[in-house]
Order: sequence, then C-alpha cells, then structure tokens
Amino acid sequence: MAVGSVPADGAGRRPNEANRKLKYISLAVLVVQNASLILSIRYVRTLPGDRFFATSAVVMAEVLKLITCLLIILVQKRGNLKEMALFLYDSIVVQYADTLKLAVPSLIYTLQNNLQYVAISNLPAATFQVTYQLKILTTALFSVLMLRKTLSKLQWLSLLLLFLGVAIVQVQQEGKKESISESSDQNYTVGLVAVVVSCLSSGFAGVYFEKILKGSAASVWVRNVQLGIFGTALGLLGMWWKNGEEVAEHGFLFGYTPAVYSVILNQAFGGLLVALVVKYADNILKGFATSFSIIVSTVTSIYLFAFRVDLLFSAGAALVMGAVYMYSLPKAGTPAAPPPPPSKEDSLIPKGSDKEKGS
Ligand code: C5P
Repeated sequence: MAVGSVPADGAGRRPNEANRKLKYISLAVLVVQNASLILSIRYVRTLPGDRFFATSAVVMAEVLKLITCLLIILVQKRGNLKEMALFLYDSIVVQYADTLKLAVPSLIYTLQNNLQYVAISNLPAATFQVTYQLKILTTALFSVLMLRKTLSKLQWLSLLLLFLGVAIVQVQQEGKKESISESSDQNYTVGLVAVVVSCLSSGFAGVYFEKILKGSAASVWVRNVQLGIFGTALGLLGMWWKNGEEVAEHGFLFGYTPAVYSVILNQAFGGLLVALVVKYADNILKGFATSFSIIVSTVTSIYLFAFRVDLLFSAGAALVMGAVYMYSLPKAGTPAAPPPPPSKEDSLIPKGSDKEKGS
C-alpha cells in the first residue's frame, strides 16, 4: 500500500477523517517514542548509583496502561461509573472465554518487556535497535503460519536482506565485544540472547493480538484492560520470582528517580500506541516507523553516548531499512489489505456526542 493512500474498508466506505488522522499521528508519535524509549532505558540502566528493579518498572507500566484504558472507557461512558462497571463486567467477566485468550499474549509481552531491559542494559542502543528489527522476520513467519498470509518473492528476498543487514551489524560489534565485557559489567551474549527471544515473542504476540483484535468487535481499550489485568498479575509474579527478597528489603520504588518515572511513562504510552497502530495502520507501516526510529536513535547516540558509526554499521543499518521498504511494497496484482472497520468503542469521543454524529 502506498504511504498516503487511504484504502476503503471491506464495505467500500472510507475511514472517517478522525481515524485517518489518528493513523498518521500514531505512526509519527511511534517513531519518536520508539527512539526515545530505547535511549532513555539505556541511559537509566547505565547510570552509576542505586539501580531500580526492572521487574518493578514492568509492573508499574502495566498498571499505568490499565488505569489509562479505564479512564478512556470512563470518558466514553460520559463519566457514568455504573455504566462503565456494567460494560466491563459484561466484556471481561461474562465473556470470560475472550478474556482468557488474552492471557497468552499478556504472558509473552510481560516476558518481552523484562527481556527488553536485559537486552538494552547489555547492548549499545543502536545495536539493540537494529537487531530488534529481526522481529519483522518473526512477524512475517507467524503471519504465514497463524494468519495464513502469503508473501511475494520480493518480500522473502527483503527478509533475507534483513538478515544480512543484522548480521553485518553483528560482525561490526564482534570487534568491540571484548572491550565491552572488559570495561563494564555488560555481557554482549546475554544481551543478544535477550533480543533474539524478544523478537520471537514480539512476532508471536503481535500476530496473536492482531488475530484477536480483528476477529471481534471489542475495542482496543477493552482488549488492553484484559491484557493489563494479566500483565499486572504476571509482572508481580515475575518481580517476586526474580527480585522478591530485594524488593522486600529495599521497597518497590527503590532507585526510582524522575528519569526512571519518565521511562515507565514512555513504556506504558508506547504499549498503547502499538495497540492503536496495529488497529488503525498496519504492521507494515509500524515497520516503517520503527526502522525510521533507528536513524533517530543512532544519530542521537552519537551525541549522547559517543557511539561511533563506521562504514559497516551504516551499511548494515541501510540494508535493514532498505529491506523494510522492500517488504512493504505491494504485491503485483494484489490489492492492499483493507484496514479493519473502525470500531465506535475505539473513539475517544463519548458515544452519542455531536462530534461523533458528525463524523
Ligand atoms: O516491539 P513490539 O512491537 O513487539 O512491542 C510491543 C509492546 O507493546 C510491548 O511492550 C507490549 O507490552 C505493548 N503492547 C501493549 N498493548 C497491546 C500490544 C502491545 O501494551 N495491545
């Protein structure tokens, strides 16, 4: 699909202006959010002094997402608490089978969000960003397996180029490996394993969530309340398992500084943004946004962390971005997939308001 074109939905209607705006705004914000999240996690995890527990930050982000989604639903219900409670009871308790389905991506995302801290604490920000693009490959593989999508030859070729680009960046990092492990407590291999598992998890959870979201009428906000309930419970379990004793001794908020709070806010906000992008745009455009954010974070790294970009790194990064572009080219003779029909429940405008009637 050409960037900028507005496809009609399955019923031949065009998505309304508000949804179209939301699509591009969410993509643009994702670029900035993605780059700033990686850089800010890297910053707070490499600062000297008391280090906060990453497992508690993951719980905090889940709670924040949950509260935000509940507030949005409350606004949609025009501040009527009783109506909201009945609505949530129906969508979460009565339709418990749907709720239970969300336990799967929730477990995987909780693991992924924890692994992301491990990866970024052990790898340079730019290396993490480029390697994490392998999630486009895993997303494609899971889409073929689970959604029965077919890929064109050009798309398979672009996936090979993606592999090549990531491999080049890895070779470039090989030379620096020793100096990284000698000079600090960072472990390149641990970081690499964490990022590869994160790619597998991102691909599977993303496709699974897309399947659930597009296969039912429930809104993004309800789905994220369901995700958040499991995410908070599982995150707490993970925290107890990994840092239980330390948290009991030092407290949940140990090492929290304003910078840590802003990372948590960023992560929570980014999670909701991913959900909106999957709903209003598509995974291809999400790929564009994240690959563009590589440039943003690499250029910023040069200034913030004295990260040196050499020819090999540039060639690898260019291949990754070229591959993302190739992957997103429309298949010959196949119309672009229509976006899902907009759900009224996704709108931030309360139901029945004048603005909604006018759209
Ligand atoms: O890198 P990736 O696109 O897989 O990142 C997904 C992120 O978005 C995770 O942090 C996950 O917790 C979050 N997410 C969310 N709600 C969704 C989908 C993803 O909070 N519906």
